Amino acid sequence: VNIGVLGAGNVGGALGGLWAARGHRIRFARRRVAEGVPASVSSGDVAVTDVAAAVEFGDAVLLATPWGVTQEVLRAAGDFGGRLLIDATNPIAPGPSLAVGFSTSGGEEVAGWARGARVVKCFNSLGADGFARPGTGADQASMFYCGDDGAAKSVVRQLGEELGFDMVDCGALSQARYLEPLAMLWITLAMQQGYGRDIAMKLLRR
Ligand SMILES: NC(=O)c1ccc[n+]([C@@H]2O[C@H](COP(=O)([O-])OP(=O)(O)OC[C@H]3O[C@@H](n4cnc5c(N)ncnc54)[C@H](OP(=O)(O)O)[C@@H]3O)[C@@H](O)[C@H]2O)c1
Repeated sequence: VNIGVLGAGNVGGALGGLWAARGHRIRFARRRVAEGVPASVSSGDVAVTDVAAAVEFGDAVLLATPWGVTQEVLRAAGDFGGRLLIDATNPIAPGPSLAVGFSTSGGEEVAGWARGARVVKCFNSLGADGFARPGTGADQASMFYCGDDGAAKSVVRQLGEELGFDMVDCGALSQARYLEPLAMLWITLAMQQGYGRDIAMKLLRR
């Protein structure tokens, strides 16, 4: 899959690097193209470009920007022309807390800002360093996702399974109202409750 990555930080660098190592072609959008690919990327067909070119390149586009700049970045992206947009952002506000919830979600806001995109919320509920450690067997981490387009969700499911995650379809994009609080729970457990960053959520099926 050709994947454009908007936001080459913790999340974009980690996922872009993992997908590149699995043979996907990656174009990172960076504000300063001369900075080159993120340090986390060690192999593969990767390059750095601007936001519009990364979107143009991608069959899929990963959105991994700080919440405060997300609307501005999506404005620069132009029309997505039906492309899949994987929204890994969380609408984090000071506290930390969530800037939106209950009657909308970051995912739904993103869908309103990203013209012509088929948005799937995913990869938001786990710390970025955990993407390389999905675990195995009884320890395999779940990765929750939601969206309104079945074909788009199938691509995301495949991309997550390739990384080793147990992919859990949570339904319509409006379910992002519950996936974003899940990210806050991860942050609370990891940062405030002393569990550390090497934790992940798991759906037990009995
Ligand atoms: N960190 C985590 O563990 C984690 C896990 C799951 C989800 N998330 C969510 O994923 C998103 C990204 O988190 P992150 O930790 O990867 O963020 P980050 O490392 O702080 O930043 C991501 C990248 O966004 C770009 N950026 C920053 N300011 C910008 C601006 N004004 N305009 C355009 N691009 C800008 C920067 O790339 P350049 O400098 O290359 O331009 C930066 O490296 C957030 O919404 C976060 O809540 C984070």
